Amino acid sequence: MKVLVLGSGAREHALVNAIAADPEVDAVIAAPGNPGIDATALCVPLDILDGEAVAAVARTHEVDLVVIGPEAPLVAGVADVCRRAGFAVFGPSGAAAQLEGSKAYAKEVMAAAEVPTARAHVCTTMEQVESGLNALGAPHVVKADGLAAGKGVVVTDSRDEALAHAAACLARPEGRLVLEEYLDGPEVSVFCISDGTTVVPLAPAQDFKRVGDDDAGPNTGGMGAYSPLEWAPTGLADEVIARVAQPTITEMRRRGTPFVGVLYIGVALSSRGLRVFEFNVRFGDPDGQASIARLETPFAQLLHAAATGALDIFGPLRCSADRAVAVVLTAKGYPSTPRTGDRITGLDAAATVPGVTVLHAGTALDETGALVSSGGRVLDVVAVGSDLAAARSAAYDAMALIELDGSHHRSDIALKAARGEITIGA
Ligand code: AMP
Ligand code: GLY
Repeated sequence: MKVLVLGSGAREHALVNAIAADPEVDAVIAAPGNPGIDATALCVPLDILDGEAVAAVARTHEVDLVVIGPEAPLVAGVADVCRRAGFAVFGPSGAAAQLEGSKAYAKEVMAAAEVPTARAHVCTTMEQVESGLNALGAPHVVKADGLAAGKGVVVTDSRDEALAHAAACLARPEGRLVLEEYLDGPEVSVFCISDGTTVVPLAPAQDFKRVGDDDAGPNTGGMGAYSPLEWAPTGLADEVIARVAQPTITEMRRRGTPFVGVLYIGVALSSRGLRVFEFNVRFGDPDGQASIARLETPFAQLLHAAATGALDIFGPLRCSADRAVAVVLTAKGYPSTPRTGDRITGLDAAATVPGVTVLHAGTALDETGALVSSGGRVLDVVAVGSDLAAARSAAYDAMALIELDGSHHRSDIALKAARGEITIGA
């Protein structure tokens, strides 16, 4: 099998590694890829929002499967163009990608599918916002309707801050926002693979969204993750399938917009039970890396089965008993003003730590061929071990060998879980 993977971050680096490890895969093409992906895949420059250009690359390389990593090309309908061109595609149509593209749409589908979620008000005026904030009470949760690259959600006790973010959301092109009831309890990411009818879960993971240790500071794209969640109720993934994923997949099919790809379900294990707070239409980054690191099922065959409507005959997924921990290294100034162009060294040494894989997120080669930072999140160190403590030590031992001026990483990824300090529904 020949596979084309679209995207250029750590998520796509993990996808490329897992696809290339499948014995049925002969070649992986990545567009545009990054210097880390280049070690495993043929990287080709490409505007991945241009569906016709993507289909042309798929044709040139005669690929058997197109895997679309990020949300932007999915929402832009790149999967539709590639399907029309005759390719098997892992990734939802533009219409189905609205589950991430519009929070108001996601809420409407959740209501129709009777999925447990936070109460919400969709608002188009500041008057509606004022009355919605009164009705829901603090803490306030204010969400931009459209794609906002991780900057769309504000959770705050301050009514003024909530109003200011609401005004900014209404000023965006879609002119609409969602106010939500605040959900307490630990957050969990469940990645559900679907062929449009059948849906199967990967092992749940937990993401760390805040930039600093102990969840201090602003929200980010994700600073680290781990899997499995030993503190979570047994059968959590099955419960998410039964109460959330399957009803949603069935509702999307009923609407004539079947969902093929990965439905990323963010749930809170709140004191009132399981509640969805978001749908995404792609793997999480870095939470997806933690789940994928433990998957033993041949990955390209799984994605191909989903892309071709064959999940029902694919059989159950196999997951290793290992624990996986991912720790993200960020550039100086992240998340507000990340500095780029700094030299990165020590990756070869880091990769020799047993159980460790270093994924490239925001890296580039400078004019001398040296590896430099090119984004806010620069690298992602993923480690597997027989328990969380071993996986954490491997990840942090590797991290200690990497040098990037002014960089930052959290030192407490999976720490509470390793110490058995996480409780649910307190
Ligand atoms: P989202 O873009 O919807 O994933 O939201 C980003 C982050 O905001 C989530 O990972 C949560 O930490 C937080 N969040 C979103 N919705 C809620 C909610 N209803 N209650 C509490 N926190 C939330
Ligand atoms: N780590 C959260 C996300 O990928 O959206």
